[in-house]
Amino acid sequence: MGAAPDYIDDGSSFFPIDPLSINPESLADFMLYERFDLDKGNFRFRCLLKDTADVPKERLIRLLQSWDVVYVHRRQRANYIKYAEDNLEFILKHEDIDEKKKSLTLINLSAEVVKETLSVNFAVAGDIGRVVENIKILITRAVDFISGIESLKGIAELVGHDYETHTHSIKVGWLTATFINANQDLFHVETKSELRDLMIQGAVAGFLHDIGKVKIPRNVINKKGRLDNLEYSLIQAHTAYSASLLFESDLPHSCMQTILYHHENEDGSGYPCGLSRDAIPLIAKICHIADVFDALTSKRSYKEAKTPFEALTIMTGENPNLEILKKFEAEAREIRRSPVTATVRDDYDKKLKRLREREIMEEEARKRVEARVKLRDRGMAHCFDKDLLRRFILTINQSESFDLSGLL
Ligand SMILES: [Fe+2]
Repeated sequence: MGAAPDYIDDGSSFFPIDPLSINPESLADFMLYERFDLDKGNFRFRCLLKDTADVPKERLIRLLQSWDVVYVHRRQRANYIKYAEDNLEFILKHEDIDEKKKSLTLINLSAEVVKETLSVNFAVAGDIGRVVENIKILITRAVDFISGIESLKGIAELVGHDYETHTHSIKVGWLTATFINANQDLFHVETKSELRDLMIQGAVAGFLHDIGKVKIPRNVINKKGRLDNLEYSLIQAHTAYSASLLFESDLPHSCMQTILYHHENEDGSGYPCGLSRDAIPLIAKICHIADVFDALTSKRSYKEAKTPFEALTIMTGENPNLEILKKFEAEAREIRRSPVTATVRDDYDKKLKRLREREIMEEEARKRVEARVKLRDRGMAHCFDKDLLRRFILTINQSESFDLSGLL
């Protein structure tokens, strides 16, 4: 077998992995490289191991333990992802891999499968079913890790990072499963396997809750800035789209309910059905809390991330302007045209006049949406079940990564 060539590269063609994530019992079909600094921001990548079958197992274990970090060429990324998915339980149970690295591995692999859902061809029967099956396999392999308190410390590391649809969905799924594990008394489960099933359902629903956003126009999803009333209504349609896209995928009924109702509010002011209190399924309420918590604590192009304490202060706060807020929300649902209050004087030119009217309307719509968001940030307690929100705070407080005692 010939030697693998060295590469001189600025580093962008390779990605680092933890050598301990290689399972000596399972052969890897990608090469491992070490990296040397060169000048002008370049590196030399030298092949350490071309084939894990080339060395005896005992020597392989010693080698893997002696390296701090190794690199894989991006051309072999798909091989590595498949390998890590197949060996996920090995990685998550490895005593010498630190919890943060395990969490990152799980997040990265989850991101791969969730990204796949965003690119699936929904017109081809079976495609979505295959992707959902991959998500279930991944979560089933990770559920024991998610059951441990250490996983909560891992996710705590990620709170506050940039918002991306797939990482957001993963965190929501993870938080939902963690909540279920920490609050077993809320569910009528008698065996460990029933609890595992419930956690898997919660995580799967979290991973897929926003899949319907693939049907919303990209310029609305990616809009930098506040949404106007029409755009806001389009966004609201994503829950129904999510349920519709997954309708034939054989997901359990509770998963479908969680996905459809994850924006329902406790007081009936949510969407798509305006359900309230006991009419909202329990896991949908939990998913809603996890969803809002992660959205508020993530950085977006138009806002800084709130700290968990700030986010939960908003979520537990009674809104002094609740009636006005409800009026705004109702108007948004009806896609009411914003009134033109300014007088348009450029009537010598009809085209210009229409343009100015439109500008004024858009400006008014923008102000109304801004006002709505500002009002919402005064307090969201009406959106959530109080007991569940308190339990959520207790659950994430266990990670000891944040001090939330002032909220309890
Ligand atoms: Fe959503």
